[in-house]
Amino acid sequence: MLKVGLTGGIGCGKSTVARIFADLNVPVLDADKIAHRLVEKEQPALTQIQQEFGPDILNPDGSLNRKALRDRIFSDPKQKQKLESILHPLVYKTLQAELEQLTAPYCIISIPLLFETGMTHFVDRILVIDCPVEAQIERVRIRDNLSIERIQSIIDSQVSRAFRKTKADDLIDNSDTDYRLAEQVKKLHNLYLSISACRD
Ligand SMILES: Nc1ncnc2c1ncn2[C@@H]1O[C@H](COP(=O)(O)OP(=O)(O)O)[C@@H](O)[C@H]1O
Ligand SMILES: [Mg+2]
Repeated sequence: MLKVGLTGGIGCGKSTVARIFADLNVPVLDADKIAHRLVEKEQPALTQIQQEFGPDILNPDGSLNRKALRDRIFSDPKQKQKLESILHPLVYKTLQAELEQLTAPYCIISIPLLFETGMTHFVDRILVIDCPVEAQIERVRIRDNLSIERIQSIIDSQVSRAFRKTKADDLIDNSDTDYRLAEQVKKLHNLYLSISACRD
């Protein structure tokens, strides 16, 4: 099956685009959702994280204190690496298992940090959702109620818009209204269907 990796900076519209593909009955896998599930209470990955990061990383009820973990890894690349070495192999394994359950000409795999985590080899094609940084900031400000400085620091921690564009096989321009978004998705849907038909 053709695997299309969907990526883009925070707030560029990845989830919005993924929903439009899903509405076309395209299976959509989501690396972030998988990672989220992997660290739910009593999951083996959470035990590993607790062993590496200490008991302070858990809430009193035994669930992950996501803010504490975020703060720890945000300022320390070594800690970030440590977390990734626990989670990445498990995310891969889970994605692989989910893929094996699918029967469809192609699927979308949403991997927000596709380049940052070096997961590009996992997909056959890279679809980048693109919009200007100002639009990213404005959309995330409304969605997540974060300060502009905080949003900017997240954007700075991700690869640049220019870098993403050089790596894209396909690009969706999401600076515009949602109507054009559906149109662009439909075009790519047809493209992916014809590519997958040639592969079989
Ligand atoms: N073209 C658009 N115009 C206006 N708002 C948009 C547009 N696309 C997405 N949004 C809104 O911007 C926010 C970020 O989009 P989202 O799809 O969640 O981005 P991502 O998943 O890449 O972080 C959401 O609240 C979404 O509804
Ligand atoms: Mg999203």
